[in-house]
Amino acid sequence: MILIVDFGSQTTHLIGRRIKELGAAVQIVTPESVLSTIQKEKPSGIILSGGPSSVYESGSPTIDKKIFDLKIPVLAICYGFQLTAHLLGGKVLFGRKEYGPARLEILNLKSQISNSLPKKFTVWMSHGDDIVFLPSGFIVFGSTEHVSFALATDEERKIFGLLFHPEVEHTEYGRHILANFIRICGSSVKEHKIDVEQIIAEIKEKVGDNYVIGAVSGGVDSTVAGVLAASAIGDKFIPVYVDNGLMRQGTTEHVKKIFTKTAGINPIVIDAVGETLENLRGIADPEEKRKVIGNLYITIFEHQAEKLAKSGKSTKFLMQGTIYSDVIESQGSKHAAKIKSHHNVGGLPERMKLQLLEPLRGLYKDEVRTLGKSLGLPDEFVHKQPFPGPGFAVRIRGEVTKERLEKEKKADVIVLEELEKAGLLASIFISFPVMTNAFSTAVKGDGQFFGEVIALRVVESQDVMTATWARLPYEVLQKISSRIVNEVSGISRVVYDISTKPPATMEWE
Ligand code: XMP
Repeated sequence: MILIVDFGSQTTHLIGRRIKELGAAVQIVTPESVLSTIQKEKPSGIILSGGPSSVYESGSPTIDKKIFDLKIPVLAICYGFQLTAHLLGGKVLFGRKEYGPARLEILNLKSQISNSLPKKFTVWMSHGDDIVFLPSGFIVFGSTEHVSFALATDEERKIFGLLFHPEVEHTEYGRHILANFIRICGSSVKEHKIDVEQIIAEIKEKVGDNYVIGAVSGGVDSTVAGVLAASAIGDKFIPVYVDNGLMRQGTTEHVKKIFTKTAGINPIVIDAVGETLENLRGIADPEEKRKVIGNLYITIFEHQAEKLAKSGKSTKFLMQGTIYSDVIESQGSKHAAKIKSHHNVGGLPERMKLQLLEPLRGLYKDEVRTLGKSLGLPDEFVHKQPFPGPGFAVRIRGEVTKERLEKEKKADVIVLEELEKAGLLASIFISFPVMTNAFSTAVKGDGQFFGEVIALRVVESQDVMTATWARLPYEVLQKISSRIVNEVSGISRVVYDISTKPPATMEWE
């Protein structure tokens, strides 16, 4: 078993996933309970995660440095490495920030951790501090342009420090490094798969004979979760879709079709288009928008549940398609930072006194897609782009009006059409225009006008945790830009967003 110490990184759970995929068991613990868990569980290796803190901040999480003398191999990642250096007599420099891709040069292949790595490859950084002196006993094995000690190890004590993140998909050879660590811990590397039958059995056991009301959106996550629930309990699963007018064109029809076809269940569809816009009037703050949409959603859902109860179908459970990236962005662990309130149904369970059923809570996007495929969902659906719960409202900076919503939707269709025509949709994780609320000058015909700027965001990702902007061909960018400024009224120009995640999230709000 490999013990992972969680210092609040967005990717602690992802480290766990990677280790499990390589065939080892995992236990995630808080820094405060490391020593007691080591005594009890006798792990064969310890991984120290990254985290949002700085070792110099008061109250930043720490560990007992006895763990370095136990002769258990330690892989220290990012904050974990900074903390290791700090505790063992090295020096960390406050505030030397670096986010996104960097080229790592391996200086020495003789460590077991760098075994059979190429000389140079891309790694993903996300750190606010840098290590400027290593503790004695450490040797540098890899550097990047800005970071001298990107990979350094104390071979004697078997401590392996990485300032980059081997667990994220955009770090090349990350899996390879983790596999090397598992071998250092004395285990062999094997393949591991998700067990659908086990998930279905767990749902059955949890809900028994009860009805389950399901919050569905037509997206991959809630549909896969819904199909699993329907496989477990049949028509005792009641999917409910709230049409708030903020979703992509055709979503309502799509929700009906997918549940009828794959699960033989007709979802309940509720029209809330007018009410949603009315409630959003005058609101520009992103978190405020989320709250307004969420509150209305809760009221509608509550009302629906009362109606069902009157017809003898009262429920104790609410099913949601929450996946792990949602959990972690809304602060999933003790030392983690909150990125944004991800869930538009956050207040539902308390108000309706319901228990949550979230069969995908521990899984990542790509795992959910694999699961969807194995459940027989059509290919084009499984690879469908994700869409945020608050919909287009978080892609319109400032107030969401009917007019701006229409423009956003029109531009969105253009982007999708052009990516499809160019045969690029399959390789893209998510694409959308953003109404930026910034204005600029343009000349249309002979007249000058001052119109809104649209930003185009097209990113590639697998597991949502990291992403890079799609290198679209210039002709496709040109086509999208021309069509948007010509076909969507009041738009003066289109700019392309070339930010990686981290630091920029995919959505603008
Ligand atoms: P970010 O912007 O956090 O996006 O990098 C990661 C994924 O999550 C989706 N997303 C949301 N989904 N409610 C949701 O249900 C939200 O508030 C929200 N914000 C982002 C986003 O579309 C992307 O797929």
